[in-house]
Amino acid sequence: MRLILLGPPGVGKGTQASAIVKKYNVPHISTGDIFRANIKDGTELGKKAKEYMDKGLLVPDELVVSIVKDRLTKEDCVHGFLLDGFPRTINQAEALDKELTKMGIKLDKVVNIDADKEILIERAVGRRICKTCGSSYHVKFNPPKVENLCDIDNGELFQRDDDTHETVATRIEVYLNQTQPLIDYYQEKGIILNIDGTKPIDEVFETIVKALGDN
Ligand code: AP5
Ligand code: MG
Repeated sequence: MRLILLGPPGVGKGTQASAIVKKYNVPHISTGDIFRANIKDGTELGKKAKEYMDKGLLVPDELVVSIVKDRLTKEDCVHGFLLDGFPRTINQAEALDKELTKMGIKLDKVVNIDADKEILIERAVGRRICKTCGSSYHVKFNPPKVENLCDIDNGELFQRDDDTHETVATRIEVYLNQTQPLIDYYQEKGIILNIDGTKPIDEVFETIVKALGDN
């Protein structure tokens, strides 16, 4: 199954991605996670990406596209993949289309999750992530069993640098201007599935699985 997860910041892409990749046994490719790993490792790419990410802006297309192209050629993508947070501009979507055509493959579906701005801000600002394994929690909607500690490996939880109220608001604006046009782009191709992201985590997942049907 070859999927894209589309949706505004904080809507639940990463949360749903974890469950989707388990069910369909495909790799989870999150450009945000790739950049954060590079920032942690102090690479040149990480340094460049951080300048944009801290401001809530998109990393330039030329930096993102080559990383994804390269990732899609890896062995584990042969039977499918889940792209989370890519593409994010029409330019990126067109570059992806070109690459997939070259590879002789096609996207199956674009899962578009949506929710109102107030919900997005509350979710992003309350998110906490494990320093060790990257598992994601929410102080109110998905709290860990012990405050500030990961249920899986007891790792300390931290807040992403771009999860402040102000930066989340900027990220939402950027989404509306640069990423939302992708809904029409994929609608025209007839592969979009619109999912109500306001429901609890498990319900959103059930809706996605139903919408994907026998794919
Ligand atoms: P990225 O990491 O992709 O961030 P994002 O798109 O802003 O989305 P988030 O990861 O913040 O939210 P999410 O939808 O994954 O929500 P989550 O499941 O964690 O990108 C970060 C930055 O990298 C960008 O700003 C940009 O600078 C750069 N970048 C990345 N890709 C790029 C690209 N292609 N081009 C250019 N630049 C790029 O959930 C959020 C919280 O809500 C969690 O706490 C969770 O527990 C909770 N939650 C989830 N679902 C529910 C629910 N149904 N009910 C209640 N709570 C829920
Ligand atoms: Mg995410």
